[in-house]
Amino acid sequence: PDARELDGLGALVRAVPDYPTPGVTFRDITPLLADAVAFNGAVDSLADLVAHHGPVDTVAGMEARGFVLGAALAVRLGVGFVPLRKAGKLPPPVESVTYDLEYGSATLEVRTGTVSPGSRVLIVDDVLATGGTAAAAVSLVGACGGDVVGAAFLLELDGLGGRDALSGLVVDSLLTVG
Ligand code: PRP
Repeated sequence: PDARELDGLGALVRAVPDYPTPGVTFRDITPLLADAVAFNGAVDSLADLVAHHGPVDTVAGMEARGFVLGAALAVRLGVGFVPLRKAGKLPPPVESVTYDLEYGSATLEVRTGTVSPGSRVLIVDDVLATGGTAAAAVSLVGACGGDVVGAAFLLELDGLGGRDALSGLVVDSLLTVG
């Protein structure tokens, strides 16, 4: 995508100060998703961005906003989609990973058997912030025997350590904000 196109996408991501808590700026991608040209363009651009990996077998996306972009990208790439869900949403059998948040912890789960051992898996989410969610996704897919080839994001929040949390992994982001 050219700079003008990226600026257009960025303009459709709304920065909401002090939400959900004071001091945090929420990045709301719903205006971008609601715009047919922008949503399609973003998915096309993500597909171009991850083409350097060569063929992937599966896209895995994290609940909830990672489902929207991940599933759309999987369709565009012609591969299957694996949802990585928050705790208690999937019936057994599941594999789980629990990870630390700033306060407390969270759990991601995947249906046993949906990640084939040795398959090339691309992790996709809307936003990379601290990287905690994506690191958990990498470890969950790895525990299933999947080969995580990389992670791709619509938007990377610079300065929150996300890339460091994913050190050793190839990380691609369409948009970056400071
Ligand atoms: C957001 C976002 C990522 C994660 C990024 O999800 O969609 O999954 O946070 O943050 P991190 O890099 O610090 O882990 P959220 O937990 O708000 O869930 P939602 O998609 O269900 O709104």
